[in-house]
Amino acid sequence: MDLLFTPAKLGTCELKNRIVRSATNEHLSDEKGQVTPLWADTLIELAKNEVGLVITGHFCVDKMQRADAGQPVLDETTDESLLRRACDGVHRYGGKLFFQLSHSGIKGVESVNGAPPKHPEDFTREELDRLVEQFAFAVKKCKESGADGVQVHNAHGYLLSNFLNPEENLRTDEYGGSLENRFRLIERILRAVRAACGADFPMIVKADSNGCGDLPALLQLYECCGVDGAEVSGIDFNRRAGQKTPFYLDALICEPDFAAKLKSGAQDGSKCLACNGCCTIYRKRFVRCVQHQDEIEQFKTIPW
Ligand SMILES: Cc1cc2nc3c(=O)[nH]c(=O)nc-3n(C[C@H](O)[C@H](O)[C@H](O)COP(=O)(O)O)c2cc1C
Repeated sequence: MDLLFTPAKLGTCELKNRIVRSATNEHLSDEKGQVTPLWADTLIELAKNEVGLVITGHFCVDKMQRADAGQPVLDETTDESLLRRACDGVHRYGGKLFFQLSHSGIKGVESVNGAPPKHPEDFTREELDRLVEQFAFAVKKCKESGADGVQVHNAHGYLLSNFLNPEENLRTDEYGGSLENRFRLIERILRAVRAACGADFPMIVKADSNGCGDLPALLQLYECCGVDGAEVSGIDFNRRAGQKTPFYLDALICEPDFAAKLKSGAQDGSKCLACNGCCTIYRKRFVRCVQHQDEIEQFKTIPW
């Protein structure tokens, strides 16, 4: 417990403690994918309650390929003042904020996007070039808004994990086949992100532990691309929903103030029941613990 509340370093980023909120789609953007003041305040609430590093839910770098109606977009239309509000608010409490960037790939939702989801083999070379630029643009915008770092989402069955997964990547050109080829797009994206944000800006990845076949080899490839850290997850956390828990650790969706309670000694365990309710409501409305009916009432104005 003592170690938990001691400072740590992630790349050049000084963290006040070792508590990280893993990316969680807040479902608090509007129907067009624009973030809202409530989205920013939800992140600030975590920092206020002793979370040292908050990672935003995944932002889609292409507004035509969102994974659900609550997912925000990070492109030229994104309201920078709200990104700044989140960064400034998190910093006010000594926390750090990383933005997670993603493309939905085969999990894009046609009813939301008006366009079918995209599989790796659907991308022309020009579209891959464009995608690399979209990631680079997004990280620049995050940095300009005061973000402390970025996480590129390579797990959970979204586009970059589709490229890694030999069952989902059916390309026969230099982007398909061997691990080196399947990694090629990710490498281009990571190098472009690095070039856009500079050598000192922390860049981490969410890594897929079971979709590419060879995790140690994959981690080495990430290292060669200059990533500062890898958060290891899996193909799709939702697919574990049939198991006892769809995650390894309980806590912050149920109690955003869990870290603060730990620190003050008010509580030494999470109240999360591992009921999986947050996954059940996922994509239907804002993300809160389903045990908290009073809070759910409070957010009823949000249309999903
Ligand atoms: C409601 C909900 C929303 C989530 N949204 C995201 C997300 O936007 N990006 C992401 O990488 N993971 C997301 N996750 C997954 C968690 O960050 C975490 O990876 C997952 O709970 C499994 O834990 P593990 O990665 O330790 O296996 C979400 C999880 C839940 C329950």
